[in-house]
Amino acid sequence: MTVRLDYNAALADVVGARHGVSLRSIEALRARAEAIHNELVQRRENGDLGFFDLPYDEVLVAAIKAYARSLKSYENFVLLGIGGSALGPICLHTALAHNYHNLLTPQKRKGFPRLFVLDNSDPEILRRLFDAIDVGKTVFNVVTKSGATPETMAQLMTVVELIKRKVSPKALSRRLIATTDVARGLLRPFADGNQLASFVIPDNVGGRFSVFTAVGLLPAAVEGIPIDRLLAGAREMDQRCRRPDLMKNPAYLNAAIHYLADTKKGKSISVMMPYSNALRDVADWGRQLWAESLGKAVDRQGRRVNVGQTPVKALGATDQHSQMQLYVEGPNDKIVTLIQVEKYRAKCAIPKTFRDVPDLDFLKGRDMGELLNAELEAAEFALAKAKRPSVRIVLDEISPENVGGLLYMLEVQTAFAGGLYNINAFDQPGVEECKKATAALMGRQTPADVRKAAEIAAFREKKKRRAL
Ligand code: PA5
Repeated sequence: MTVRLDYNAALADVVGARHGVSLRSIEALRARAEAIHNELVQRRENGDLGFFDLPYDEVLVAAIKAYARSLKSYENFVLLGIGGSALGPICLHTALAHNYHNLLTPQKRKGFPRLFVLDNSDPEILRRLFDAIDVGKTVFNVVTKSGATPETMAQLMTVVELIKRKVSPKALSRRLIATTDVARGLLRPFADGNQLASFVIPDNVGGRFSVFTAVGLLPAAVEGIPIDRLLAGAREMDQRCRRPDLMKNPAYLNAAIHYLADTKKGKSISVMMPYSNALRDVADWGRQLWAESLGKAVDRQGRRVNVGQTPVKALGATDQHSQMQLYVEGPNDKIVTLIQVEKYRAKCAIPKTFRDVPDLDFLKGRDMGELLNAELEAAEFALAKAKRPSVRIVLDEISPENVGGLLYMLEVQTAFAGGLYNINAFDQPGVEECKKATAALMGRQTPADVRKAAEIAAFREKKKRRAL
């Protein structure tokens, strides 16, 4: 595994003291970093933060691989879920399956099923999926830690009826897999009652930290991604992220740089910009991780703080022609993470066509990957010239090991950043508020729902006053 953190362009000596983080200010966090490290170690040992040890669960990996093999005869694998139950699977699919996996013939897919992840309750994507797939050749995986999320349960209810109607009422146990809490929620009794194959999301692992549980691993294994290699990369990164020294631990150091950029240099926006289409959903997954974990109203002592950097996803070089103008010349309120791939999985030499156009000589015979890497360096240069800090995460290639390592590093970085902001990085009251309001709006009738509905009715009244 080779994942490197190059943080030079975030430093004051490159982008100036007003916008760059000084080495001295990072060093000044050392004592706090040590305390946060000790607390994380303690919570890991107590079994409170389960995500740390997920890459070591060999029994689970063996079970998932065996189960995934049994699904090879299906043409489609459809994941029902949202948020932390969907973004990890999407991220692994985009990064590590063939870029056009679902468009390949079964032979070219080596017989592995196509993968669809719904991640919304948009009626069109659900209804129209059935124009694209044959339900008779499909297996569905419903993923929800709480076993109660309205979007996912609505998807599930639709699919249950569909399986009963289009396949057979008895087919549920063969066509539906549940990934959920071991006991809690509405899904577990349904899964057990209908003899569904099921996987557990451990109690001590939050949705956005669940990519290395069956949430991410099962769909990945189903489409042929070598999950052992993914976890090997995560384990290797774990060794690097166990280092107590802030300056030697890439996750801690990157967290410290982002924290200082936000709190001392006004960089309230964190852009993640991979220069690889395959890694674009790493930025999407990372966006949820950073936003839900760090965007908090109160600190751990209950004081109102309203902290959190706004994460933004971008794609290099595509967004150099869309967003970069703003990043280079707009408000200096961003720190940009550029993700570089040194060697792409495919080569594409630019032909020496247009021989009579010397202005294009600089492209002729060069590889497209070389161009993309030059674009990354150009962006880093333009940002630094305009005194905009950036960090560069370098992967020597897009391999399961590197992706596993990168995701693991970002998880540890987020947990550590929670310590720096002094907030609880593992809850999501804002998400829960929306879930409760949705249920109340849809007419659920518990006493809490009725109170919530009254609150919403008052809000609607206020909103009515000024509408065009
Ligand atoms: O990270 C989180 O906790 C959330 O984003 C959840 O993953 C999301 O709300 C879906 O929840 P659940 O898996 O319970 O259906």
